[in-house]
Amino acid sequence: MAANRALRSSQVVNIEDLRQLAQRRLPKSVFDYLDGGAEAEVTLAENCRAFREVTFRPRGAVAIANCDLKTRVLGHELSFPAMLAPVGYSRLMHPGGEVAAARAAGLAGTGYILSTISGHKLEDVKAASQGPVWYQLYVLGGREAAEGALDRARRAGFSALVITVDTPVAGMRERDPRNGMKELLGTSLFARIPYVPNILAHPGWLASFLLDGGVPKLENIVLPGKGPMELIDVASALSKAVVTWEDLRWIRELWSGPIVVKGLLTGEDARRAVAEGAAAVIVSNHGGRQLDSVSPTLRALPEVVAAVNGQIEVLMDGGVRRGSDIVKAICLGARTVLVGRAYAYGLAAAGHAGVARSIEILRADVERTLRLLGCPSVAALDRSYVETPHVWSVR
Ligand SMILES: Cc1cc2nc3c(=O)[nH]c(=O)nc-3n(C[C@H](O)[C@H](O)[C@H](O)COP(=O)(O)O)c2cc1C
Repeated sequence: MAANRALRSSQVVNIEDLRQLAQRRLPKSVFDYLDGGAEAEVTLAENCRAFREVTFRPRGAVAIANCDLKTRVLGHELSFPAMLAPVGYSRLMHPGGEVAAARAAGLAGTGYILSTISGHKLEDVKAASQGPVWYQLYVLGGREAAEGALDRARRAGFSALVITVDTPVAGMRERDPRNGMKELLGTSLFARIPYVPNILAHPGWLASFLLDGGVPKLENIVLPGKGPMELIDVASALSKAVVTWEDLRWIRELWSGPIVVKGLLTGEDARRAVAEGAAAVIVSNHGGRQLDSVSPTLRALPEVVAAVNGQIEVLMDGGVRRGSDIVKAICLGARTVLVGRAYAYGLAAAGHAGVARSIEILRADVERTLRLLGCPSVAALDRSYVETPHVWSVR
């Protein structure tokens, strides 16, 4: 296949190259769903820009024989310090979807977090990976549906539960209504008509989508008496699915393993998560897709790290497009980072092979960055290797 050939060629040297391949293969509605952010996309852009504001302080004349990229997260040893973030609707990007991404993560020796909004059964996703797999919970479809999913996840061997707390309603992603995302996922043929020409202009994607059976159902949200939830229901269902600190106690009764709170940006919320028994927090603004104009996550990270004070692990995501971004986040206190779009562009471009290429690019970047910094291991990274702008310390 052309995309797979391109992956190996000099055309794909960084994540932006994968993004462009994804843009070529996907209809505009699906690409913009993946690529876009909320409202004016201020936070989406700032997440990436924040990494540019942090500069390195390398140590010269250091020879490193073996560079150690390993890290430990919630007791799992990862071969390099990045995991794959939960990305809903992955099966719309490529039929392999969540299964392909989990498999690529496992083969690369790292972890995968499965979104509730998955088109593949959670059992199949777990079976595809030889690495750790965590389940990300939205209480979509009510408590009974969530209880069913958690029971299945526990039995399938998911090793941690991620609770996303930044989605009391879906963010206003302005590209989606313009592209007719709702109409395209709906059942009315008439409503779809204006958007059909762009879909037809992407025959490769269309053929794989149709061969895969069309719009997938949400296989892990099984509504009592009705079966798996339809994909179209998600936006309205999210506003009825807000998770509060009180819900965390109910979830704790159902899930005895580690619970990770995803979507915090302040020291206050991080301390609350510690008090509620979280095993880790993920500093995240949902990749700039929820509340626009919140701070970029790299900038929020030091405050959360200080507030948590070593009591639990701190992970972060948002704007990671290069291995040097991963290194910067670790220098500022993250145990590991999650990548969202960086691997989803690869998935959309070429399925499993695209995700594998994305991970390979990031891993090579991390190793090269460590060597250029004169630092022998991920474990040895600390603040002395970076400089942050002075304004970051003024609040
Ligand atoms: C297309 C897309 C779908 C997402 N779906 C979910 C989801 O279902 N659950 C969730 O907790 N986060 C979701 N996220 C947020 C990611 O888990 C992660 O926080 C974000 O992508 C990180 O930013 P980055 O894309 O710049 O790496 C999604 C992100 C994208 C881009």
